[in-house]
Amino acid sequence: MIELGVNIDHVATLREARKGKVPDVITAAKVCEIAGAHQITVHLRQDRRHIQDKDVERLKEVLLVRLNLEMAAVPEIIEIAHRIVPYAVCLVPENRQEITTEGGLNVKEQRDWLKKVVDGMHELGIKVSMFVDPEIEQIEASAEVGADSVELHTGAYANAEGKQIDRELKRLYDAGAVAVKLGLNLHAGHGLTVRNLEPVAKIPHLKEVNIGHDIIARAVFIGLESAVKEILAILDRVSHS
Ligand code: PXP
Repeated sequence: MIELGVNIDHVATLREARKGKVPDVITAAKVCEIAGAHQITVHLRQDRRHIQDKDVERLKEVLLVRLNLEMAAVPEIIEIAHRIVPYAVCLVPENRQEITTEGGLNVKEQRDWLKKVVDGMHELGIKVSMFVDPEIEQIEASAEVGADSVELHTGAYANAEGKQIDRELKRLYDAGAVAVKLGLNLHAGHGLTVRNLEPVAKIPHLKEVNIGHDIIARAVFIGLESAVKEILAILDRVSHS
């Protein structure tokens, strides 16, 4: 079965809109867990616009499922990851002006630094994933620095229209095949929805998807438990087809 990480950043976005206590991210995480999510994903951004340090600490304490921390590979956040020790980290590029993570990490250009970051995480038993665009050279660089997984950035696929959709899907399939050949675990995420998930879920050997915005957006209308379950139903159907 392809596993689902639910990104709950936007529960914190809503809370931070009033700088109050609700909606509580721990409650949200627990509802996702009860609905069957395999993992909770949060992005501790340097600007702390949604998830706060305390949220990550509390999630680590109370979750029964895995905690996946998305983060920039910068000393301040690395120190926090080393202190909290999530199950996994997903290294992402971070640009302070962006609305959400816009592109994949340039692993190739920062090979030496990222190798050190990966080694440091591995010393503490933390798995490392690289959030990369579906480009062969970035996948190869991820394997070279010792990453456990790559998470293919599905944003370009999600934003594509018409014939471009198939072209973007092909890029994901080709990149996925290279990742698997190099022994990397294959994950995918960004912009995935109940409507566009299925073709991505059919990428051979895909192990995990991380989905945030669409689940939280649909939760406003159908409830969080139902929003998680409808994604799980798609993954279940694809996994058993
Ligand atoms: N995976 C990664 C690495 C991300 O940075 C994000 C966005 O925080 C997601 C998955 C989830 O993307 P979305 O909210 O569009 O589902």
